[in-house]
Amino acid sequence: ELPVFTTAADMRNWVRKQKKSGRKVALVPTMGYLHEGHLSLVKAAKERADIVVASIYVNPTQFAAHEDFDVYPRNPVRRSIGSSRGFEGQTLPALDDRAKLAAAGCHAVFEPESLYVSVPGAGEGSNVVGRETQHPDSHETYVTVERLQRPLCGGSRPHFFRGVCTVVTKLFHICEPDVAVFGRKDYQQWRVISRMVRDLDFAVEVVGMPICREPDGLAMSSRNARLSPEAREKALCISRGLAWAEAAVAEGRVSEPSEVSSHIRGLIEEAGGKVDYVELLDAGNLGPISDLASQPTLLAIAAHFPAKDRGTVRLIDNTVLGEA
Ligand code: PAJ
Repeated sequence: ELPVFTTAADMRNWVRKQKKSGRKVALVPTMGYLHEGHLSLVKAAKERADIVVASIYVNPTQFAAHEDFDVYPRNPVRRSIGSSRGFEGQTLPALDDRAKLAAAGCHAVFEPESLYVSVPGAGEGSNVVGRETQHPDSHETYVTVERLQRPLCGGSRPHFFRGVCTVVTKLFHICEPDVAVFGRKDYQQWRVISRMVRDLDFAVEVVGMPICREPDGLAMSSRNARLSPEAREKALCISRGLAWAEAAVAEGRVSEPSEVSSHIRGLIEEAGGKVDYVELLDAGNLGPISDLASQPTLLAIAAHFPAKDRGTVRLIDNTVLGEA
């Protein structure tokens, strides 16, 4: 039976026991509603450590008040310990997250109800940015990676990486992993966390794994479950745009970064998507590039497509051009 810990103290005690017995511990942080992409991280973690802990926590501090915290897909298993907010009308997966993790060979799950000081009566969602309750006992310490957090997702989600870095810091302090595994689907997140670990001397090795895709090319994401069937089909323009760019650059059919981005913008708009960004940046420092010769170049896309319930679903994807 897969042990599930819901408090920081229980989780930390268990991990410390494992480490006392000389075992190397890996952590795979997630927000649940798991797919093969998440499970590929568990597999990679197993290759690098003796013990793999996965965390499942939809972190309120990385969502802004207008974003999708309330409707973020959640697994029904959380009903028993969490609030029921956001579960209404969702398609439930065949296997729950814990069963998927157990099948993938994970050794323990950290599933906290809340990781922030709760304000009486305010509930978990009160830590959503812009909805924080002004209460002296509420959370007020954050970790910020100043420059790397600004481009790409930081543009449209200015508090996003502050929330991610803060919760990942908390998870690192609670789970004390030797290795932490992230996906390069969230390329900037991987770079930002690597930078945080380097700058603040965390004793954690950060590993970034390749993007897992559906057979038709769509990058796997928990948010895909919120797409309408038509939007699911239209959203393929994102991965098709990336594949087009890889070929066009490799064959020398484009010379300017702006040619690449405007072609992909066109593909997304034609498919009825709303572009958040299509950008080409230095894959190492996420700084600007002047030409396509300065490879490796990150080509990163974020775009909105219609949701099946209400509003839109924001999808991200990327590729590194000129990577061996
Ligand atoms: P979540 O979106 O659940 O993703 C958890 C991890 O799975 C991240 O490292 C992400 O990059 C990786 N991942 C997601 N889709 C992937 C795919 N198709 N292929 C490979 N890896 C994929 O990212 C978060 O949660 C949160 O921001 C978190 C780090 C847990 C902090 O709250």
